[in-house]
Amino acid sequence: MELPMSFNEEELWGRTLLLYNAALLEIGTKLEILNNEFKQAHQYNPIEHITSRIKSAQSIAKKMRHNGRELTVENIVKYINDIAGIRIICSFTNDIYRIADLIAKQSDITVLKVKDYIVNPKPNGYRSLHLIVEVPIFLQDEKRLMKVEVQLRTIAMEFWANLEHQLRYKKDLPPEVIAKTEAQLYECAKLSSVLDTHMQDIKDTIESHS
Ligand code: GTP
Ligand code: MG
Repeated sequence: MELPMSFNEEELWGRTLLLYNAALLEIGTKLEILNNEFKQAHQYNPIEHITSRIKSAQSIAKKMRHNGRELTVENIVKYINDIAGIRIICSFTNDIYRIADLIAKQSDITVLKVKDYIVNPKPNGYRSLHLIVEVPIFLQDEKRLMKVEVQLRTIAMEFWANLEHQLRYKKDLPPEVIAKTEAQLYECAKLSSVLDTHMQDIKDTIESHS
């Protein structure tokens, strides 16, 4: 029997979180399968590791306030692309694009947006490939398309981004220390980019002789 039930926002949010968690599971499984297949063919894992997270309620509320939107579940789902986030860490830059292509090629995944901060790094030096994808989630009596933010980066990019992230939360440092650290981080971003290029070159050389 179907009842015209009216959910209150809190119940709706609980169900929505379940959907985002399901989306992370779906993408995680797809990636594990691709990684295993790749390993069988090429004898190494293109994916070093994967992390995922659901954005905290606090960060969601902050972003909605920042964007001047009313805090409703409908608005959150519509306007925030990174409620569900998955981060794929690769050893080599080429593998980032390989994995991104394999994700995009899956018939049930739609890529909504691509931001290539590897080809076009941010002014602070940040590099990573970002995709916003949509994945279908099958429930008992409905199918829902859920958005997931996928960030792909090398180990070196991850190392850098984690340190830079720490600086962001240290805004109480003296301005001259912040300025110096930002300059150092920018230098490190360039060094990490050179490192990634050289590591890729070595890998390519080894592969061309095997
Ligand atoms: P938000 O930053 O999420 O509001 O959206 P946006 O449209 O500006 O997205 P963008 O693709 O630029 O960044 C999304 C995410 O990438 C962030 O939430 C961070 O996780 C990561 N990111 C982007 N820029 C930086 C950066 O300069 N440093 C670090 N550490 N992470 C970054
Ligand atoms: Mg974000």
